[in-house]
Amino acid sequence: MKKILFATSEVHPLIKTGGLADVAGSLPKALLSLEQDIRIILPNYQSIKHIEQPRYICTLRIDNRDVNILETKLPDTEVIVWLVDYRPFFDHPGNPYVDEQGNPWPNIAERFALFCRLTTEVAMNRAYMDWSPDIVHCNDWQTGLIPALLSLEKPKPATIFTIHNLAYQGLFPASMYQSLNLPGKLWNPDGLEFHEMLSFIKGGLAYADRITTVSPTYAREIQTPEFGYGLEGLLSHKQDILSGILNGMDLQQWNPESDPYISQNFTISSLKNKIANKTALQKRMSLPVNEDIPVFGVISRLVEQKGIDLIINCLKEMVEMPLQFVLLGSGDNSIELELQNYARLYPEKIAVTIGYDESLAHQIEASADIFLMPSRFEPCGLNQMYSQRYGTLPIVRKTGGLADTIVDALPHTIEDASASGVSFNEATPGALLEAIKRTLILYNSKSAWRQIQRNAMKKDFSWEMSANQYLALYNQL
Ligand code: ADP
Ligand code: GLC
Repeated sequence: MKKILFATSEVHPLIKTGGLADVAGSLPKALLSLEQDIRIILPNYQSIKHIEQPRYICTLRIDNRDVNILETKLPDTEVIVWLVDYRPFFDHPGNPYVDEQGNPWPNIAERFALFCRLTTEVAMNRAYMDWSPDIVHCNDWQTGLIPALLSLEKPKPATIFTIHNLAYQGLFPASMYQSLNLPGKLWNPDGLEFHEMLSFIKGGLAYADRITTVSPTYAREIQTPEFGYGLEGLLSHKQDILSGILNGMDLQQWNPESDPYISQNFTISSLKNKIANKTALQKRMSLPVNEDIPVFGVISRLVEQKGIDLIINCLKEMVEMPLQFVLLGSGDNSIELELQNYARLYPEKIAVTIGYDESLAHQIEASADIFLMPSRFEPCGLNQMYSQRYGTLPIVRKTGGLADTIVDALPHTIEDASASGVSFNEATPGALLEAIKRTLILYNSKSAWRQIQRNAMKKDFSWEMSANQYLALYNQL
């Protein structure tokens, strides 16, 4: 049994902005069922949803600040969660990265540096908890300083750094280095320095004992200039300790058979019941109710990564086709406005909801026929997995985890019953439009469509296999 400290900036259902929270909420559960002693550490944000009052554990003095550690459990599990509680930094409305107006926190570097320092103290068993982890598993830039700080300790726990998204690096002016009071030894081009900037993510990449990312294809892609953001050299240099482990999905939360958010539950053998969800969604979205018309769904952060601009470029032609389009998302203001404008122009065809809505996300997954995910890059992606489980066939760009989880519907993959969606290569509106047309032809051939839905629903995206891969990695260390 390994003792694992899992450091993350978000965990579903306590706090979530994207897929990292889904992973942090489900991988530790899977590791616990593999009988590992795993504890999550996370900042105590004001917007965390608590079922019960967390328990006070101790106070540590860090950089002249008194920081508390509180303890709670991941709801409906036995996974212990430690909350790093420092009110001046974390007791504000908004999410982990931005305020209520969507502006990035001006002191975000200080916040996560404090989180990393405190996690380092816990990892070194200096927090009066009588618990020494064997492994500290860090996730994304917000935790990047932890492997760097631990590299200065002896003996120290082994460190793993998982890249969920290389596009977010935690880059700050070099002058920040002094104000964060970080050890001088870590400031060099092989350390936290990146082109005269302070890079949090480099702390993870340069100092962790193992680096993982969330799909095998993304692990290869980030070693190239197209996806590496200047870190491709370092990552190729580290290729012997770098691997891709595909995310799983939470089979309880995303289960069409028991999902409490949807109008009508269904399974692979009662697939015809899925249609009642479509009717309910059309009513909710004030779209014409029509069982036959294909409904395209999107649930996404509205940022460049997700290729929403490609969809916007196709909408003019899509409205000429027999289809409906339902989108839920929030993010870049200009993308939001453009989408809302289309919805106003074509109320019979397009419904756009700007915001974050857990229950609507489940309803779209259950109700749509087709899910669009034309990402420019996608480290793993979870919605294409959820879609397959709900018999909602995804159209994806062949990149990262999308390439690793979708089998394109071609004559031979339809024949051997492996087809589970449609994929395309070029990040252009033309290529996406071709994929949409190809999908509509399949949709109109009812028996082929049913077969592909069944292939998709049968796929195993459980955490079991991936959690065992992480465990194998922990055991190597
Ligand atoms: P990323 O982490 O890059 O945003 P993923 O596909 O890994 O992409 O995960 C996104 C997660 O966030 C999914 O669980 C998805 O359902 C959820 N999500 C994204 N946008 C919204 C939204 N507006 N409302 C509800 N859930 C959302
Ligand atoms: C990131 C990636 C997404 C991935 C998620 C969880 O947010 O953008 O592709 O699924 O992390 O690993």
